[in-house]
Amino acid sequence: MLPAGFPYIKRRLITAAVLVPLDAFTMCLAPSGAFGKYQLCTTPFMRYSNARVSEFMIAQEDEDVKSEISENETLEEICLNTAKNTTLSIQEDFMPNHYVTFTDVVREYHSGPVPVRAADGISFSLEKGKFSIIVGPSGAGKTTVLNILGGMDAASSGTITVDERDITRLSKRELCSYRRDDVGFVFQFYNLIPNLTALENVELASQIRKDAADPRSVLNDVGLSHRLDNFPAQLSGGEQQRVAIARAIAKNPKLLLCDEPTGALDYETGKGILELLQDTCRDKGVTVVVITHNQAVVPIADRVIKIKSGKAESITDNENPMSVSRIEW
Ligand SMILES: Nc1ncnc2c1ncn2[C@@H]1O[C@H](COP(=O)(O)OP(=O)(O)O)[C@@H](O)[C@H]1O
Ligand SMILES: [Mg+2]
Repeated sequence: MLPAGFPYIKRRLITAAVLVPLDAFTMCLAPSGAFGKYQLCTTPFMRYSNARVSEFMIAQEDEDVKSEISENETLEEICLNTAKNTTLSIQEDFMPNHYVTFTDVVREYHSGPVPVRAADGISFSLEKGKFSIIVGPSGAGKTTVLNILGGMDAASSGTITVDERDITRLSKRELCSYRRDDVGFVFQFYNLIPNLTALENVELASQIRKDAADPRSVLNDVGLSHRLDNFPAQLSGGEQQRVAIARAIAKNPKLLLCDEPTGALDYETGKGILELLQDTCRDKGVTVVVITHNQAVVPIADRVIKIKSGKAESITDNENPMSVSRIEW
């Protein structure tokens, strides 16, 4: 069986990785040529330690070693049984260009009498500049995952990397700048400041971020150039959400994280917002993650991560994502 949460195997050949036994429980995959960028891949590699060799289609180049390895050995056993470093070719998408990775992430809440595992060892990855949807029933752990990714909550254990940085190891100060500079958040109920106009709400974002986009031009991009001086209460739900999206993208964030962005909107308005998010991803190259409980919208995403009981139940890539106008629910 493949490790849960990693079904997105692309079968790309990673040649000549060297398997180095460290001790009984840890091992590393040292780079050799093909992916020199990775100095140490302990964490992703650990995911595979219990998987059988046959599942990884190890193409052995060194015939001597090949004869020593039985198809049923796990990678961990190979490490332990092979005295010297072993050079293997492994057909597997290991994750060199995964922009975001969650590996065995657990988030436990202890506020009630019984601890709740909102994230229960979840693993997945997201690609740069792609549109990903996290879908699942209420209580599945979607918001928990997004808040951890956005640096608003911390994992109890596990590893989260964003653009090759392990965000679980950031100091308070670093986490603060990560939230401020790298993440744009869009919430179900917009969270605009009621006594500031649309323009001023967006200017807020550009004031805290050095490389911010021009607020007027971003508001124009979301179709609100005629509503700059209106207060939130004078705007429709859809317009308020457009301001919230403008505020998030004005920061030029690495990640645009949206928690049920259409949850408070009617059908047509919701579609308009999804269209705007899809366009933002396509036109500006922003990495967009949208949470929804609406299974019907998943064909519009490049990658769909289905969450159930705090775990990734499935991860699917759409080769040809549909445009929002073509879906109905
Ligand atoms: N701060 C918290 N304290 C205690 N339990 C929480 C907290 N946040 C979320 N939970 C629990 O974790 C589970 C997942 O919640 P959540 O991530 O909000 O799910 P979703 O967004 O998929 O509806 C739920 O059972 C919820 O009650
Ligand atoms: Mg939620």
